[in-house]
Amino acid sequence: MDTHLFFFILLVLPVAYSDDHDLSLECNQTFNCGTIQGIGYPFWSPTLRPSYCGYHGFELICQQNQSPVITINTQRFHVLNISRPPLMTIAPVDTWEDPCPQQFHNISLNHNLFDFAATIRNLTIFYGCPLEDDIPSQHRFNCGTTTSNGNTYAYYLDESLSRIHRSDLTDCDISIIVPVNQSEFDELWNETDNIVGAWNKGFEVTYQKDMISCLACRSSGGVCGSNSSSLDFLCFCPDHPCSKSCVVSVETRINPFESSTPIVFSLIVRRMTFLFLELLHRVYQSTIA
Ligand SMILES: *[C@@H]1O[C@H](CO)[C@@H](O)[C@H](O)[C@H]1NC(C)=O
Ligand SMILES: *[C@@H]1O[C@H](CO)[C@@H](O)[C@H](O)[C@H]1NC(C)=O
Ligand SMILES: *[C@@H]1O[C@H](CO)[C@@H](O)[C@H](O)[C@H]1NC(C)=O
Ligand SMILES: *[C@@H]1O[C@H](CO)[C@@H](O)[C@H](O)[C@H]1NC(C)=O
Ligand SMILES: *[C@@H]1O[C@H](CO)[C@@H](O)[C@H](O)[C@H]1NC(C)=O
Ligand SMILES: *[C@@H]1O[C@H](CO)[C@@H](O)[C@H](O)[C@H]1NC(C)=O
Ligand SMILES: *[C@@H]1O[C@H](CO)[C@@H](O)[C@H](O)[C@H]1NC(C)=O
Repeated sequence: MDTHLFFFILLVLPVAYSDDHDLSLECNQTFNCGTIQGIGYPFWSPTLRPSYCGYHGFELICQQNQSPVITINTQRFHVLNISRPPLMTIAPVDTWEDPCPQQFHNISLNHNLFDFAATIRNLTIFYGCPLEDDIPSQHRFNCGTTTSNGNTYAYYLDESLSRIHRSDLTDCDISIIVPVNQSEFDELWNETDNIVGAWNKGFEVTYQKDMISCLACRSSGGVCGSNSSSLDFLCFCPDHPCSKSCVVSVETRINPFESSTPIVFSLIVRRMTFLFLELLHRVYQSTIA
């Protein structure tokens, strides 16, 4: 056997074998995005982490020293905290540090992927209102002339106050409903924070999508990802992708939470490949001797 051919086999064979394993290694990496470090599945970002390592709808746009931005139903949100999955704290870009947006939108989540967390309270904000003496002034802020009727006052109210003051609010131009965090809501009511502060703290949403599949995948030694063409969930196992979790032997089926089995299995295969090559090497040496 030619020496070059032998070393070609020695170098190329294990690499070719571990092609799919590289996918599970690649997607096991986390990435940093603006102010948040160590982000993993289901999030991804162009140039930082491929979409197949995340899930459709969880694309983050990163800018240095700024919070990542996610788009939900065409609306953009700052992502403030993802350290307690499946909870994510977000705040609308529209009203970031500015209680007087250029355009008025109600927040609509894509309910296939997200839901409001139990920790939110809804505020209704009325814009373009005349001065209303009946509404407590702590609920009022000024917005210049951002609405078409020329009125400059805005009021934030909860559901019951909106009902009480319904007749006072008929001259307002437009209203939007904004979720705020429960404790921020309390601080607004006891006047220890203002509307900008409450908005900038964000509110929590849950993202349940495929979290069960992902847990099952991880506990079987796999890494969560997705099929970039069908957008289905995929579990990248040490040597191949599967639709749910890595089941490689009878032991994993008996004990699906034994995470080390597929890795051990893969190590055994690698060890055998190595021994085979070593044997080949010896045979080769004995032929040239
Ligand atoms: C993924 O990373 C974790 C933590 O670094 C490690 O324990 C695990 O074995 C890795 N999984 C794979 C399939 O590489
Ligand atoms: C996210 O929330 C956790 C738990 O509430 C907290 O410890 C952490 O400091 C927060 N991270 C950021 C970036 O705000
Ligand atoms: C807040 O409003 C949204 C719709 O805008 C609704 O789905 C949600 O249940 C409301 N939450 C509370 C606590 O009122
Ligand atoms: C937001 O939702 C409320 C309640 O459904 C509605 O009265 C209001 O007109 C909506 N605002 C906008 C800007 O669509
Ligand atoms: C939101 O409010 C809840 C309940 O008051 C609290 O436990 C949670 O930490 C708050 N989250 C944020 C992001 O402020
Ligand atoms: C206002 O409410 C917040 C949140 O519940 C609380 O932490 C704070 O102590 C309250 N402040 C006053 C002055 O009541
Ligand atoms: C990904 O989806 C495509 C199209 O549905 C399918 O043909 C392909 O087999 C899938 N790949 C994997 C690894 O499941």
